[in-house]
Amino acid sequence: MKILGIETSCDETGVAIYDEDKGLIANQLYTQIALHADYGGVVPELASRDHIRKTAPLIQAALSEARLTAKDIDGVAYTCGPGLVGALLVGATVARALAYAWEVPAVGVHHMEGHLLAPMLDDNPPCFPFVALLVSGGHTQLVRVDGVGQYTVIGESVDDAAGEAFDKTAKLLGLDYPGGAALSRLAEQGAPGRFVFPRPMTDRPGLDFSFSGLKTFAANTLNAVLKTELTLSEQTKADIAYAFQDAVVDTLAIKCKRALKETGYKRLVIAGGVSANKKLRESLTQMMKNLGGEVFYPQPQFCTDNGAMIAYAGLLRLKQGQQSGLAIDVKPRWAMAELPAL
Ligand code: KG4
Ligand code: ZN
Repeated sequence: MKILGIETSCDETGVAIYDEDKGLIANQLYTQIALHADYGGVVPELASRDHIRKTAPLIQAALSEARLTAKDIDGVAYTCGPGLVGALLVGATVARALAYAWEVPAVGVHHMEGHLLAPMLDDNPPCFPFVALLVSGGHTQLVRVDGVGQYTVIGESVDDAAGEAFDKTAKLLGLDYPGGAALSRLAEQGAPGRFVFPRPMTDRPGLDFSFSGLKTFAANTLNAVLKTELTLSEQTKADIAYAFQDAVVDTLAIKCKRALKETGYKRLVIAGGVSANKKLRESLTQMMKNLGGEVFYPQPQFCTDNGAMIAYAGLLRLKQGQQSGLAIDVKPRWAMAELPAL
């Protein structure tokens, strides 16, 4: 089976083709980052309009990259939620219309299931069961994964997602949206120990997270420095970035360790945009080594939003005969626990 996957949930248009026998045979991505940067965040209406412009050309590009024609496609997968309603509607409408015209089934995919399964695109995929840490711009969740569609959310953020905290703190430091990766690069120049940020919610039991306080802590640290220094030096910014990243990574690691202990599982999967973070990868790799377990991450290109993870998740579901009806439905809010097991 060859599945066309379409991702339009936020600010990336991703189109890919996954072949059951050959693996990923086309992967096209267009990012709207430059479009939204001037506004310091995603403008939903602009995102929808840009998806309209880009989705069809990217589908054509994916078909020619794979040297296929529409007749070769056996099914269409699209991100059905969670995400921005207008953006989701673009992908869903194009996907459903093509599936109808091509007389093939279509299936709506859960965006976070896509992220969660992204490490399966690798040569050394994790086996079930495992604990997944999903860290993106919109979500921070710890999930007990017992199989495809067998997801129990065992912890999540009560306020900002980890990526959101990265982006907001990056903005405070004068970095462009979305500043997660740039903050991480800046932190490499930072000196350990000059500032120490708290590790929120680690001093009490449970697996939930809270990241909004870290952004406030960063703002207060910055203001305190400004009382003695007239302007913020590059070194001070780097030192704040270091302390912030250190606190987020440490907090995530503490909760992952707790989740592994609670479930008794030995495998950890990290996925979503923040899983591209070098410090987080290093820290969790070391932790799993100490615990005698294994850690899996997607390749960097599959950490942030992409069509490949949607095509892959769609293939698994279409192969089992699951498909969506003709109505074009999107789910801006959608709990993973509602997904049917395979
Ligand atoms: O998964 P994703 O592409 O979109 C959502 O589904 O939200 O994640 C985007 C998030 C952004 O907040 C971005 O700043 C963050 O991932 N991110 C990073 C890094 N690369 C992307 N955060 C920290 N370090 C990185 N290297
Ligand atoms: Zn995402």
